[in-house]
Amino acid sequence: TILILDFGSQYSHLITRRIREFGVYCELLPCTQKISELSWKPTGVILSGSPYSVYDHDAPRVDPGVFDLGVPVLGICYGLQELSSESQVWMSHGDQVTAAPEGFRVIASTNTAPFAAIRHNEKALFGIQFHPEVTHSVDGKQILKNFVLKVCKASQNWTMSEFIGKEIERIRQIVGENGQVIGAVSGGVDSSVAAKLMHMAIGDRFHGILVDNGVMRHNECAQAKKMLVDKMGINLKIADASERFLANLKGKTDPEQKRKIIGNTFIDVFEEEAKAIDDACAASGAAPVEFLLQGTLYPDVIESISFKGPSATIKTHHNVGGLKENMKLKLIEPLRELFKDEVRELGRLLGMDDELVWRHPFPGPGIAIRILGEVTKEQVAIARKADYIYIEEIKKAGLYRQIAQAYAALLPVKAVGVKGDKRTYEQMICLRAVETSDFMTADWFPFPYDVLKKISSRICNEVEGVNRVVYDVSSKPPATIELE
Ligand code: XMP
Repeated sequence: TILILDFGSQYSHLITRRIREFGVYCELLPCTQKISELSWKPTGVILSGSPYSVYDHDAPRVDPGVFDLGVPVLGICYGLQELSSESQVWMSHGDQVTAAPEGFRVIASTNTAPFAAIRHNEKALFGIQFHPEVTHSVDGKQILKNFVLKVCKASQNWTMSEFIGKEIERIRQIVGENGQVIGAVSGGVDSSVAAKLMHMAIGDRFHGILVDNGVMRHNECAQAKKMLVDKMGINLKIADASERFLANLKGKTDPEQKRKIIGNTFIDVFEEEAKAIDDACAASGAAPVEFLLQGTLYPDVIESISFKGPSATIKTHHNVGGLKENMKLKLIEPLRELFKDEVRELGRLLGMDDELVWRHPFPGPGIAIRILGEVTKEQVAIARKADYIYIEEIKKAGLYRQIAQAYAALLPVKAVGVKGDKRTYEQMICLRAVETSDFMTADWFPFPYDVLKKISSRICNEVEGVNRVVYDVSSKPPATIELE
């Protein structure tokens, strides 16, 4: 295992991803991690870059214990400067290295950076001023690969097919021979993969619950059932609570209030279903439900352990984390070590359809946060239909995978139009499509005009109540991906 110490660089998770791509397991921990408190010995250590300057009085420092491990160390950017915290050789201007620390020699330089890469004369300590983890560094991948495989000699045993076997074994250990597990399933790739692993590990002792909140996409529930139940054999209860959600949303227009209502209604429905399952278990003499499955991914874990602390909440995200205290369920998170691309690979290995594996993320509050203002059955029907056409055309144009997320939103403002010689006064559809790798920042997708043209004409012709289509050309920041 390679240990990556995070000094807060926005690229730290990329280093982790790259190394996983080489088939080597690695973990990202905050730079404040005490080496003596690690329960495992790393085969090599990478010190990430940082938004700090080494001269900041509160600049994070590495535990000197790293250098006593006797394993290779690679310092990237800021991490390079941490290699020699004692020496006075750094120049503050731009924080560039101006002289190699004692015992080090220069192994690469450019016109402007005479110390682009350095290494220790005897020990396996390396420092590079640039970022090998970003795709702009053409040979960056190779540099990381050489460090991990040639210098650290890390073993390449991190593959998703090995993961499946190990994870199933781990789940069986935790859950035991009789344990029962419940979990919310949404029809998205993460919860489907998590549910499939659970099913493989403990069969029908895993009880999936799919809550139909009335604001899912066109045909989504039926499709999810086809995949999860008919194809994967998962023990799934579909709770149709669409009327209840819509009733609770009636008259509500404030985005945060809408989110809260959906989140709370979800928890209520989920808990009722969970109780029904628990009662049924008790009636049949089975063990009570003790565990809750969650499809948490590694980026969420990283976010919550980051030494900078979790980033400021911009929107109240909805997930099952808000379950009431008295449920007292223990969490079980089979995907918590994985990145999204690893989950997709896992889905593929588990026999899931490409359509599910490559599905764009879909927020818990669904279409409700894509209909500005009040959410009614009629508005949901309009947004759903427009979204369906939009996604269908994106797929036809072969652009679905290039786009990280796309959806059609409904703007409840009316404008004048003309249809078949008649004046219309109807609402507007706003198309959104973004490119992003982490959903923290995003760029709008540059659609070919002919694709936009086709989408717009189909929506105007086929969706009743709509006479205009606009395309959202805002990046994140300052906009967010969702409208609410
Ligand atoms: P924003 O709008 O914050 O979205 O730029 C970033 C990503 O998060 C998704 N999103 C959610 N996902 N529950 C979710 O499960 C939510 O409440 C939620 N709100 C936003 C959004 O679709 C995008 O992928």
